[in-house]
Amino acid sequence: MMNVDNEFPLDSSLIYLNHAAVSPLPKKTVESLQLFLQEMMFQGAKDYPQWQLKENLLREQLQELIHAPSSNDIALLKNTSEAISTVAYGLNWKKGENVVITDQEFPSNRIVWESLEKYGVITNKALISKVEEPEEVLFKLVDENTRLISVSAVQYASGLKMDLKKIGRFCKENHILFCVDAIQQLGALQFDVQAIQADFVMADGHKWLLAPEGLALFYSTPQAREQLELKQYGWRSVENVSDYDSLTWQLPDSARKFECGSPNMLGIHALSASLSLMLEMGLVEIEKKILENTCFLLNLLNQCSNIEILSPQKKEQRSGIVTFKHCKKDNNSLFEQLKQNNVICAQRGGGIRFSPHFYTPTTQLEKAVEIVNKML
Ligand SMILES: Cc1ncc(COP(=O)(O)O)c(C=O)c1O
Repeated sequence: MMNVDNEFPLDSSLIYLNHAAVSPLPKKTVESLQLFLQEMMFQGAKDYPQWQLKENLLREQLQELIHAPSSNDIALLKNTSEAISTVAYGLNWKKGENVVITDQEFPSNRIVWESLEKYGVITNKALISKVEEPEEVLFKLVDENTRLISVSAVQYASGLKMDLKKIGRFCKENHILFCVDAIQQLGALQFDVQAIQADFVMADGHKWLLAPEGLALFYSTPQAREQLELKQYGWRSVENVSDYDSLTWQLPDSARKFECGSPNMLGIHALSASLSLMLEMGLVEIEKKILENTCFLLNLLNQCSNIEILSPQKKEQRSGIVTFKHCKKDNNSLFEQLKQNNVICAQRGGGIRFSPHFYTPTTQLEKAVEIVNKML
């Protein structure tokens, strides 16, 4: 078993509880980037075929991560928002059709759909706060004009983990497309695109996947991506990528058609290194440790007087995110106090969001809650 402390040589003065925002890079990832940068400095692209092998490896790693049937179903895009936009602007909408989302979505999974209003497409939001079964509220909004349901696997502010299997089943039964923003789940909790019957899944790598910003996976089933009209074209979106002389071209069946130009090779090297660390550690083990941390935090916070936990506490709805607020103290001053004590966290959903990763020691969670308690 790897020594986790060696892999995360974070500044020891920091208590880093912000993996739901942007994560620190593991040592392995930084070393891989350093090697790649040295190679680019001393040898340029002399060994470009090796870079392509790394890109292929990354697609296979991502396939394993989300349990996709094939690496051909995975495109590498810039970020989650670009992938959601590829779906939203690829579909041929009819006036009056609608999309169903929740009222807890991060702006990328709301604004993109709302922007379709100019085509007469309506975005309906299910009000899921403090609801026992949020999926049922989503289903109630569906009517004969619903073309697609789009949800976050885990909600960014509350940490609510949605029952994706249930939503996927409902979508299939009702011939509705199912789109999942998985950025708050991948790298934290296990994920299986086939089990949830998703048509589209997207996630950037800079949160729980421990990679830098700017490289995202975009999964689509062959049937679903056939429905998307391409809005960006380039030398790489064609079947015979290296045939620069040919004056004819055709699009590939694979998801690679969504990648129009040169890949983000730096991002590819980094995400691949982070994924190899996580796959070596084991996705089951990572999920176990993350849920143990969540449970530990919930127990500590439940013992504090005047603290209201905003995250769901039902086991099946838990994730790596725990959000809470102080009933008497202003959230801004609590956040400032935490910041001054080097607790790196976020203000979300009207509370303080803690998001430790699998390697975060429980002693740090205790310290962070102690600081909260001092303010009581
Ligand atoms: C649920 C969710 N989706 C998307 C994003 C970010 O999107 P992008 O990858 O486009 O920056 C975030 C970031 O906080 C998020 O929490």
